[in-house]
Amino acid sequence: MRAEFQKPRGTQDVLPPMSQKMEHMRRIALDCAQRFGYFLVETPVFEQTPVFLRVGESTDIVQHERYSFTDSGGVNLTLRPEGTAAVARAYVENGMYNQPQPVRMCYYGPMFRRERPQALRYRQHTQFGAELYGSVLPEADAEVILLACAVVEEVGLADPVIRMNSIGCSICRPRYREALIRYYNQRQGELCQDCQSRLKSNPLRLLDCKIDVDIRENAPDIEEFWCEDCSSHYKQLVDLLSSTGRTVVRDPFLVRGLDYYTRTVFEISHPSMGSQAALFGGGRYDGLATTLDGPESTPAVGFGMGIERMLSAVEEKFTISSQMRIYVAHLPGFEGRSLVLAEQLRREGFAAESDLLGRSLKAQLRDAGRRSQVVVIIGGQEWDKGEISVKWLQDGVQTTIKREQLGDWLREKRENS
Ligand code: HAM
Repeated sequence: MRAEFQKPRGTQDVLPPMSQKMEHMRRIALDCAQRFGYFLVETPVFEQTPVFLRVGESTDIVQHERYSFTDSGGVNLTLRPEGTAAVARAYVENGMYNQPQPVRMCYYGPMFRRERPQALRYRQHTQFGAELYGSVLPEADAEVILLACAVVEEVGLADPVIRMNSIGCSICRPRYREALIRYYNQRQGELCQDCQSRLKSNPLRLLDCKIDVDIRENAPDIEEFWCEDCSSHYKQLVDLLSSTGRTVVRDPFLVRGLDYYTRTVFEISHPSMGSQAALFGGGRYDGLATTLDGPESTPAVGFGMGIERMLSAVEEKFTISSQMRIYVAHLPGFEGRSLVLAEQLRREGFAAESDLLGRSLKAQLRDAGRRSQVVVIIGGQEWDKGEISVKWLQDGVQTTIKREQLGDWLREKRENS
């Protein structure tokens, strides 16, 4: 195939059985969310560009990873790189701040970032996310973290370790920022190129650098700069999570790559993936909705979870219990009738298919062996006597039953399989 017809770099075709696993993952995530009282919101996959500029002009996803375009009407649009700003826009635009608070929402869908493609870093990835609006309390932070952990556990990853930090508020963070700039200015000559520019544009991100790790070891720790409220918020949150049996470790270098966070930030990464590849990440962002013309005070907290990364972390362990599949095979001359019987079975709620290639019975049975658990064989003298053959492929036992018994026979097999 010519290069121009191939899928764009950093994207994937999700084919069976991966697509079935993705679908199963979606169900697990949304079921968990529902148990916690978070209901689905769906926003467009593109927004007017200024919505995403609110994520922070110095963040990577806004600065150079944005898929933006001007449509034929001259409107500047951006494919959503993340869900938080889009949900904040929806919360404000739909006046959801007038509803009883807190408002609990979740979302599931594709996100687009023009990142350098590498393992588990795609230009289109799928995120499950949850956002809680209207509570300033650490209990709210705890609840969203517990939801994320519940999903992680439900798919089979036991005992997730939550890395957490507080990046302070508008009172204490500026003091920390100054101390950080002072420290890094003294070491400026040793900094990598990215950190040279971070020092000017976004000093907190200096701590995120995977190259200058030795330098950050001696950098001032934000914990020493937390104001009383930030300190007590963080400590209460740790206590709450510990009381629910969750393991929390403080990561003083965790600052996250998005600018809207206040106080709590958290991530979990799976040991097999290294700290570069978080399974989910999030935090509190009390100011974002206000910057989108929302009310003055709109506290919020949430997380986003990478579904491709989750699937990769659970690997082969993640099995899907598939529905019992029925193959309606036929003797010559019964092509049409096998299609009609398959349709009858589907209407009764079974998963059924029939041959569409005019194959011999032998070839049909070979095909059935690859894709079904049960074969129903129709035709010949049996059919004239009102009978059909049924075969349970697991034990290879074939029997003849009356046609009107088929439904009951299949239901019994389904219940016992
Ligand atoms: P984020 O850390 O940028 O946060 O993304 C959330 C998760 O999406 C990551 O932990 C990762 O699992 C997955 N992810 C991100 N980029 C990629 C990629 N290029 N390829 C594969 N997976 C990826 C956010 O997006 C925030 N909106 C989270 C949030 C919600 N904060 C508060 N509420």
